[in-house]
Amino acid sequence: MLVQNNEYICAIQAFIHSALGSSPPKAALLSPVHPFDSYHFLPTPTVFVQPTEKLIDTRGYSFTSQGPAKVDNIDNILEDPNLLWIEDKEIDEDRIKDAQERIAKQGANIALFWRNKYINEAGKYWHTFYKRNLDHFYKNRHYLHIVFPELAPENCQSPTTLLEVGCGVGNAVIPLLDINPNLTVHAIDFASSAIEILTKNQYAIDNRLYPSVCDVVNNEIPVEDHSMSYILCMFVLSAIAPVSQPMVIKKLMKKLKPGGKLFIRDYGRYDEAQLRFNKGSKIDDNFYVRCDGTCAYYFEINELKLLMESQGLQSEECSYILRQYANRSQKIARRRVWIHGKFVNTGNQQD
Ligand SMILES: C[S@@+](CC[C@H](N)C(=O)[O-])C[C@H]1O[C@@H](n2cnc3c(N)ncnc32)[C@H](O)[C@@H]1O
Repeated sequence: MLVQNNEYICAIQAFIHSALGSSPPKAALLSPVHPFDSYHFLPTPTVFVQPTEKLIDTRGYSFTSQGPAKVDNIDNILEDPNLLWIEDKEIDEDRIKDAQERIAKQGANIALFWRNKYINEAGKYWHTFYKRNLDHFYKNRHYLHIVFPELAPENCQSPTTLLEVGCGVGNAVIPLLDINPNLTVHAIDFASSAIEILTKNQYAIDNRLYPSVCDVVNNEIPVEDHSMSYILCMFVLSAIAPVSQPMVIKKLMKKLKPGGKLFIRDYGRYDEAQLRFNKGSKIDDNFYVRCDGTCAYYFEINELKLLMESQGLQSEECSYILRQYANRSQKIARRRVWIHGKFVNTGNQQD
């Protein structure tokens, strides 16, 4: 029922965007919860094992540190009622064609008035998001030291500095602080409602975590230049308008020590969440506004690589994460696409 109501509200929002063009929205017409929000941010399930360890379950399927690995004899997750997710195959031409047809049906970009509003007032929408959801929305991300082993305690033998951009309420950095005693984290977000929650965390009281309100597009980043060993961007670059992304990467690059690394996980091109946007949601190519006013860009890996390299970062890892999840009640396989990247400051940047 809730979903139906939200879909109805989303439809009204889409109608306003397309029919009225430049009239400002009534706040009440913006859905408090996007119908696909919980789907959008489906947490990555985690099994705690050592990075190199492989487990075999009773049915002979192998598991990696993040859950079931490739299941060679299954094309569709619905074929096995016991699986939570499987690795998906590479995106082929048929899938691209199908995705592009679905994108074409999303219609024209929203009017300029709305585009500017969602981009310029992004902080306000995220602030409202955390006021509404507090720290109940995202699950803690317990897998980061596995997918970015540089952050694992055994690889941080001396004090290590990490900047997290778009930290929200700390779902990424708190698990890292829990396991890595050598880590000190500077965590920034432009949503003051999120930072207010994070500031009350014991790690902030103990001076291992320094949360601050900062809009990475419009403000100075409050850490010294070339002082960070690592920078973490978890689903934040996608929230920033593509036009501002190069400038943001440049600013981040300046904060990295020579040899320091930027870690990123974010939404990938043709993710099912991208394909499910309705008319009246598209701001620009591959850039959308959700019903709660927050934005999401869907990255293509070569484009991400170029973005990083254009700002002087060298690509060490840059790939898609392709998975199928089962929605058993609706009998559909959901095909998720994320990007994973690791980029190094080679120390050659011109200031
Ligand atoms: C999808 S959430 C991810 C939160 C967190 N990184 C995680 O993975 O749980 C995106 C976050 O980026 C923040 N954000 C978006 N644009 C930002 C900007 N220009 N400056 C600082 N934070 C921003 C939002 O407030 C939000 O907390």
